[in-house]
Amino acid sequence: MKIKDIDLGKHPILLAPMEDVTDPAFRLMCKGFGADMVYTEFVSSDALIRSVSKTEQKLNISDEERPVAIQIYGKDTDTMVEAARIVEQAHPDILDINFGCPVKRVAGKGAGAGMLQNIPKMLEITRAVVDAVKIPVTVKTRLGWDADHKIIVDLAEQLQDCGIAALAIHGRTRAQMYTGEADWTLIGEVKNNPRMHIPIIGNGDVTTAAGAKECFERYGVDAIMIGRGRPSLDIPRSEALSGNRRRTSAGIIRVVPRCVARRGAEQCSPTGRTQGDHPYPPSSGSNSPI
Ligand SMILES: Cc1cc2nc3c(=O)[nH]c(=O)nc-3n(C[C@H](O)[C@H](O)[C@H](O)COP(=O)(O)O)c2cc1C
Repeated sequence: MKIKDIDLGKHPILLAPMEDVTDPAFRLMCKGFGADMVYTEFVSSDALIRSVSKTEQKLNISDEERPVAIQIYGKDTDTMVEAARIVEQAHPDILDINFGCPVKRVAGKGAGAGMLQNIPKMLEITRAVVDAVKIPVTVKTRLGWDADHKIIVDLAEQLQDCGIAALAIHGRTRAQMYTGEADWTLIGEVKNNPRMHIPIIGNGDVTTAAGAKECFERYGVDAIMIGRGRPSLDIPRSEALSGNRRRTSAGIIRVVPRCVARRGAEQCSPTGRTQGDHPYPPSSGSNSPI
């Protein structure tokens, strides 16, 4: 699977962007566990253009973690363009736009998943950002605003027409937040739409090797993005995902362990904030005591 010139191999597993979790230490750790590509947490375009130093620190990336995507969010086109140019100077492999964050302080102000209620604006921002930078631009979004507006199949075509290099889809609506189960059927529909030619990255509730295998096989996605995985998910490569042998020396990939995610948030985050006071919940259906 390739995003422009970036070759991620067959059946790549991507570390999802997670606020206060996917900082440099955590990304490197996941890279060591076999993640094929990693994302920074989302970065506020407003804060970036105001040179807020805590925000600028989020652009710190190292060569060891490549390929790495820096993700930005915002609701104003000029601000997003300016932020995209600042991000490009940090030399990530990819610039990702967040149109999927459901939390009130973001979506309620029209950014993140809030943009699912203003598609013309979403497309305007996407086009402008693609035109503003030379690195590949990707988008991460959800199925739609709510159950009555699952627009992702049409939206994917429109975003592709804006020039994005890949699309990541979390199989929930904004209204669902993190409740219920991720619905992969529409992700599969996007992938199987003959008009689509960019890579489609599926996301949501993949927590086992068997689940990853099933999503690749049943929905045909080009890559799987994993945020809240569980511990004990050491997957012998040959059993889980055929064909891709670029892994750890032991031939093992570990889906991001949830306990590590939490520890990463506690120990590596400059804010020291823990998942307990985090706007994002733990994996649905999890009965892990960790
Ligand atoms: C703690 C936490 C922080 C998150 N922060 C972001 C973020 O900054 N940007 C983003 O696009 N998604 C963010 N998400 C959503 C995840 O990237 C992912 O879409 C979601 O967790 C579903 O995937 P999963 O079931 O594999 O966890 C976050 C999720 C969690 C749990």
